Amino acid sequence: PLVTTTEMFKKAYEGGYAVGAFNVNNMEIVQGIVDAAKEEQSPLILQVSAGARKYAKHIYLVKLVEAALEDSNLPIALHLDHGDSFEICKDCVDGGFTSVMIDASHHDFDENVKITKQVVEYAHAHGVVVEAELGRLAGVEDDVNVSDADARFTDPEQAAEFVHLTGVDSLAIAIGTSHGAYKFKGNPYLDFDRLKKVGELLPNFPIVLHGASSVLPEFVAKCNEFGGNIPGAQGVPEEMLRKAAQMAVCKINIDTDLRLAMTASVREYLAQNPSEFDPRKYLGPARDAIKGMVAHKIKNVLGSSNKL
Ligand code: G3H
Ligand code: 13P
Ligand code: ZN
Repeated sequence: PLVTTTEMFKKAYEGGYAVGAFNVNNMEIVQGIVDAAKEEQSPLILQVSAGARKYAKHIYLVKLVEAALEDSNLPIALHLDHGDSFEICKDCVDGGFTSVMIDASHHDFDENVKITKQVVEYAHAHGVVVEAELGRLAGVEDDVNVSDADARFTDPEQAAEFVHLTGVDSLAIAIGTSHGAYKFKGNPYLDFDRLKKVGELLPNFPIVLHGASSVLPEFVAKCNEFGGNIPGAQGVPEEMLRKAAQMAVCKINIDTDLRLAMTASVREYLAQNPSEFDPRKYLGPARDAIKGMVAHKIKNVLGSSNKL
């Protein structure tokens, strides 16, 4: 059945693991992810960005997820990733999602509180849970030093205040991760002290980690070997994610690693089979690559196998 994340997060918090939230855009991605979660008997969050809704259309994504529910019998949460306004959140609440993210983190604190509260009020009245964000995820251009970290990373006291003021169900915080394939210029660094403090100030409250792909070198290398050009890519080391999952982090967002797995597979297939032009020939292996990546995450990073 389609579920909210409430039970998932409660169990994940207590069990010291995290639930993977994987971005979906098309049928092969949905099928690859859901097959892996089914084999691993893992709870699962499928998330849709504004860009995904625009690409595939809301209705196609909802119907794909409905098909996945029927086919797999898994409890799955359908989540809006980075909603940037009340309106898009409302559309998704009205359109069958069980969870929405209102990302008003680019606004100042008071405005973020105000917009988030409005979404919480509407979503809760319709049985839907809400994730918000406080702090700014570092980009690759940014060299983190201590004063930078204080300016950009989430302040634990503010996080606690934000949660109390808004009534939000989970919170994405900035501790050094960032979106995309270029996360760190030098050595990877996450501010675990900050995460620990958040956990102390907000006991049993689920924290979300965005920008949590590991950008596995093997997949970048395969892209580059077969005609790609992705130099200097670097992600979050898996041991850091495992550590975060044992702390307050209950939801780990992964998109880039799926993109890399899919693209590496398609590039390899087409390079090795230049005469093939049936999309099923290269999308089939790409779907398998997604499945392999998600199974790896569930088993070796999230720790969510057999947690239904
Ligand atoms: O946070 C961003 C996700 O990776 C979704 O990316 O906006 O390109 O669909 P997108
Ligand atoms: P990655 O780019 O690290 O996969 O992060 C995805 C994400 O945070 C989606 O919201
Ligand atoms: Zn994100």
